[in-house]
Amino acid sequence: MKRFEIVKKRQLNDTIHWYTIYAPLIARHAQPGQFIILRVDEHGERVPLTMAGHDSETGTIDIIVQTVGRTTMLLEQLNVGDCLADVVGPLGQPSKMEGLKRVCIVGGGVGNALAYPLAIGMHKHGIHVEMICGFKSKDLVILEDEFRAGVDKVHMVTDDGTYGEKGFTTDKLKALLDAGEQFDEIVAVGPAVMMKFVCGIAKEYGIPSVASLATYMVDGTGMCGGCRAIVGGESKFVCVDGPDFDGALIDWDLLIKRGKTFAAEEAEERAHVCKLTGGVRTNA
Ligand SMILES: Cc1cc2nc3c(=O)[nH]c(=O)nc-3n(C[C@H](O)[C@H](O)[C@H](O)COP(=O)(O)OP(=O)(O)OC[C@H]3O[C@@H](n4cnc5c(N)ncnc54)[C@H](O)[C@@H]3O)c2cc1C
Ligand code: FES
Repeated sequence: MKRFEIVKKRQLNDTIHWYTIYAPLIARHAQPGQFIILRVDEHGERVPLTMAGHDSETGTIDIIVQTVGRTTMLLEQLNVGDCLADVVGPLGQPSKMEGLKRVCIVGGGVGNALAYPLAIGMHKHGIHVEMICGFKSKDLVILEDEFRAGVDKVHMVTDDGTYGEKGFTTDKLKALLDAGEQFDEIVAVGPAVMMKFVCGIAKEYGIPSVASLATYMVDGTGMCGGCRAIVGGESKFVCVDGPDFDGALIDWDLLIKRGKTFAAEEAEERAHVCKLTGGVRTNA
């Protein structure tokens, strides 16, 4: 097998693919919650992606990627046998599990992919894990079978009610807590706005919360400052101090504002790749 070769590729829905990549050094050291940064080709952008799994025996790591822009479109065009230019990792801090007994993990959209290794890792660690998996509609649902096989309870919700219960992840979380469910931590992984409200509910019910932040990243080593977030009034670098932070202490409004910084440039890049490949993404 060649370095950074794609050894398996599986389509999960219209825009999300699961890739298994040969990267033995990373596979040997990876832990749940950590991420990698890859480049598709040597002139490409550096893209951070959570490791969905790793296997030190086969020397492989897994990533689950939503095609949203230039680099992820280029990645989607690669197939088994193709190689990535480079992959750096494992980066970031592993998720903390010590002392936890019952955890509710709330995943929104592709955030469910980011939550997957954590959910499985916590369950293997002996923690009771309940997942609330939220999607806009049925055609976007991913990983349901994997979650059902790997955690204690799965609650599926869709915004439009086409699958599972109708409503937002926050509605389901509130319903569970109102029904008397006890958790000693709530983890939010998904769009920043969803995480802000999930952590708000956790605070309201007096439960500690953790949010997995996906800010802009460039170097991934704490050098550029691109991933800065304010947590508890202090500047933190998501790439080295995170990506997990105490949800009650995050300055959500600043984080959400910073997340929109490059929207115009990204739309232009996307249009450029669409022209090259003939592909058009309407749901990016
Ligand atoms: C720690 C971390 C883990 C992540 N894990 C996953 C994952 O497991 N699966 C997945 O599908 N996505 C994940 N992402 C998001 C992923 O990095 C972006 O979707 C990707 O960078 C988009 O690149 P693009 O060129 O295709 O799109 P672009 O058009 O460049 O950007 C589309 C959107 O992607 C985000 N983005 C763009 N550039 C960056 C960057 N350098 N760093 C971070 N975000 C960026 C922004 O929200 C942007 O609006 C993660 C991000 C972080 C920070
Ligand atoms: S990505 Fe540069 S400091 Fe975190």
